Amino acid sequence: MLFEQLRAQLARFPKLDYSPLPTPLAPLARLTGQLGGPRLWVKRDDGLGPGMGGNKGRKLAFLMAEIQRQGKRKVITYGGLQSNHARMTAAACAALELEAHLFFFERRPPTLPGNLLLDRLFGARLHFIPFGGGGGASMTLEAANRLVRLVALPFTGPGAYFMPVGGHNVTGCLGYVAAALELHEQVAQLGLEPVTVVTAAGTGGTLAGLLAGFTLLDSPVRLLGIDVGKLWKAFPVSIGRLAGELCAALGEPHDFRPEDVPIIERTYAGPAYAVLTAEAGQAIQTLAQSEGIVLDPVYTGKAFAGLLDLIRQGRFRPGEHVIFLHTGGAPGLWAYEEPLSAFYRE
Ligand SMILES: Cc1ncc(COP(=O)(O)O)c(C=O)c1O
Repeated sequence: MLFEQLRAQLARFPKLDYSPLPTPLAPLARLTGQLGGPRLWVKRDDGLGPGMGGNKGRKLAFLMAEIQRQGKRKVITYGGLQSNHARMTAAACAALELEAHLFFFERRPPTLPGNLLLDRLFGARLHFIPFGGGGGASMTLEAANRLVRLVALPFTGPGAYFMPVGGHNVTGCLGYVAAALELHEQVAQLGLEPVTVVTAAGTGGTLAGLLAGFTLLDSPVRLLGIDVGKLWKAFPVSIGRLAGELCAALGEPHDFRPEDVPIIERTYAGPAYAVLTAEAGQAIQTLAQSEGIVLDPVYTGKAFAGLLDLIRQGRFRPGEHVIFLHTGGAPGLWAYEEPLSAFYRE
């Protein structure tokens, strides 16, 4: 599909404007010099969207427009305690005078730091249901969504809009098809080739949208997702299915087998989702002290640690370009003060 055709297909879907686009694509010159490997770049989606920003800004732009069109007054979504998706949904709902109902399948913690503080600031209703937090790849993402929908509805009454975890549906992930278009254009303007985009994969919607977008464009941009949570059963199947649904919604059906999904599962996730790894703690420090850019302990810290390890292993040649998609998450830092302090001495 041609660039302008994809742009026209995307324009058929209503969308809110949260931030000026494109987001910057900036060189990481100091870090590139220190590592002596591929030429590193950062795509700043961390500054995008409502409520302190992050990748969910691209998804919410389409999701909130759909909610408005359907005339819904209440929105249900869920995630881990430090869910950036929940925080940004709360902010988007506040701005549209909608009730945000955020579900966390864990015990209510004694204090509510980081994203939880912001959730309250935005006036969201927090529901803590201690089912044990899920995860552990015991369920597919689709099964988890079906279950939560059933559990949550009695709390809000009928007529609420159910938003899957991470905004993981066709409407939300159109945002990352649009991001693929944006990246394809920036990469061409800067003449970056060969180039690989590396992103964290939590629910995999960001990866699915980019995969669909680059496939539709037949783009030379390569893609790599790094699993940060070991959360879902048959994760590549879910990501491939969503990428296929996105292509179909945009007028050009495409089948993605699980092996077509470029993801490194489990390797960099550590013991579990949201458990800080030593490598992530060090990766956060590396980027902060080389470039003054802040990552987060749950998503981008683990993904960046994976990227640093791949560079050390020689996965990318010196002339190649690697773009780290910064998906946000910094508010989560304040919920990890204790484990992070172990790494950072004054
Ligand atoms: C900061 C941050 N980065 C990355 C991700 C992963 O995005 P996705 O759920 O689309 O895989 C999330 C959310 O899950 C996030 O909050």
